[in-house]
Amino acid sequence: MARNRLGIQTNSAERFDSWSSTYEKSFTWRWFYAPVHETLEREVGGVSGMSVLDVGCGTGDMLRRLYAGGASRLVGVDASEGMLKAAANLNGGNNAIEFIGAGADSVPLESEEFDVVISSIAFHHFPDPARALSEMARLLKPNGKLYICDMCSEGLRGRLMLAYGRKIATDDNYYDRVSLTSMIADAGLTPTGSRLVRLFPLAMLVSAVRPA
Ligand SMILES: C[S@@+](CC[C@H](N)C(=O)[O-])C[C@H]1O[C@@H](n2cnc3c(N)ncnc32)[C@H](O)[C@@H]1O
Repeated sequence: MARNRLGIQTNSAERFDSWSSTYEKSFTWRWFYAPVHETLEREVGGVSGMSVLDVGCGTGDMLRRLYAGGASRLVGVDASEGMLKAAANLNGGNNAIEFIGAGADSVPLESEEFDVVISSIAFHHFPDPARALSEMARLLKPNGKLYICDMCSEGLRGRLMLAYGRKIATDDNYYDRVSLTSMIADAGLTPTGSRLVRLFPLAMLVSAVRPA
């Protein structure tokens, strides 16, 4: 598989490099990403004093939200140089949030560092989803919580979305609530719930906890 300029194996980071400067100004942002972030923020709930990792953090909006919510350590990893630059600009020199150029399947951080690991609308881009999940499991502390929001391939809406996605990117992987939950369990985490969070495009939120 090809590597990008950061040396990361990725299906899609170049697409995000070119979108990065207008990502948070786009219609898709207002219509889809920002509302998904509101839902995810509510679901994660109180993070005061907690450490949070966002895998595929993009421009860092979730981390800025959770910083405002009192998280004590915030780290974002992303494979796109452009998205990381945009994240640094939007973050305005706030040292409390650290951004790392890394692939989801090989995150250069010590094990068991995070109370919460999130990933928002990025999982379908990861070239090795099982490895990405085992990295998330490794990075969580015992009793730490995982929240993955992603596109959902269920039903007619899911299939339409998938057909559209396949037109713009043939190498993205789409899942439904059952398959994602089962992959999360295979990574050694205990699933705690799954639900749809957005009807068009269809998106799901699946959560899990790392056993003590
Ligand atoms: C649709 S954006 C979502 C960004 C952000 N999480 C949000 O909700 O706004 C998907 C992100 O996944 C990142 N990405 C794609 N492949 C990746 C990989 N293998 N490892 C880490 N990040 C990746 C892209 O660079 C992009 O920033």
